[in-house]
Amino acid sequence: MTTGHRVHLLPQTDQLRAMHTVIRDRACTRQDFVFYSRRVIRLLLEESLNHLPFQKKEVTTPVGETYHGLEFASKLCAVPVIRAGESMEAELRDVLPGVRVGKILIQRDRRTKLPHLYYKHLPDDIADRHVLLLEPMLATAGSALAAVDVLGEAGVEPRNIVMVNFLASPEGIHRVQAQAPDVTIVTSAIEDHLNQHKFMIPGIGDFGDRFFGTTDAGATS
Ligand code: PRP
Repeated sequence: MTTGHRVHLLPQTDQLRAMHTVIRDRACTRQDFVFYSRRVIRLLLEESLNHLPFQKKEVTTPVGETYHGLEFASKLCAVPVIRAGESMEAELRDVLPGVRVGKILIQRDRRTKLPHLYYKHLPDDIADRHVLLLEPMLATAGSALAAVDVLGEAGVEPRNIVMVNFLASPEGIHRVQAQAPDVTIVTSAIEDHLNQHKFMIPGIGDFGDRFFGTTDAGATS
């Protein structure tokens, strides 16, 4: 599929595909799943930071010369969509130790797959911040769009949202592009399609369950 100017797919290097090969294997141990997922998450976070605004900054180097550099031009906030989004928090804090973190808890109904908002807690000044929305899975995009709505109600402009996403379906990306076209998406893989059960194909299983060890099963969603 064409990705569009606000959809950024990580370079599909052999190394990235090898990491996906480990974690997509239904026989992958949880230890390997967490280890290699976290390596991919680190790449996603580093790329996501490239889509935030920077401004010029000059510093004087130890030899007394001027370096014409850059610095972040905006205040930042990260918002994981609990539960799977919390898998990204450890790497986030390694990259941005002092970052503010809001929370949104959205769970899909097991049967209908429709998202339900249970809880939110966001910084009071979030409307003045750029937001890294940590949502690893974009299947129907129902959960992601519900989270974008919650941020919108708090005053966050869609163009100030960068969605950090591990795996996306073409259907999910198209839906975000249609309903929230100003949101930037950074992802490590775009799947073939959604099946009739709204599972991504070839898929990775239930990311939250596999990451947090709440199931022994492989492919579920
Ligand atoms: C999963 C995943 C996403 C959502 C993606 O969450 O973490 O939030 O589904 O599917 P969608 O694009 O069709 O909405 P789930 O509700 O299964 O909870 P979890 O985070 O606890 O795994």
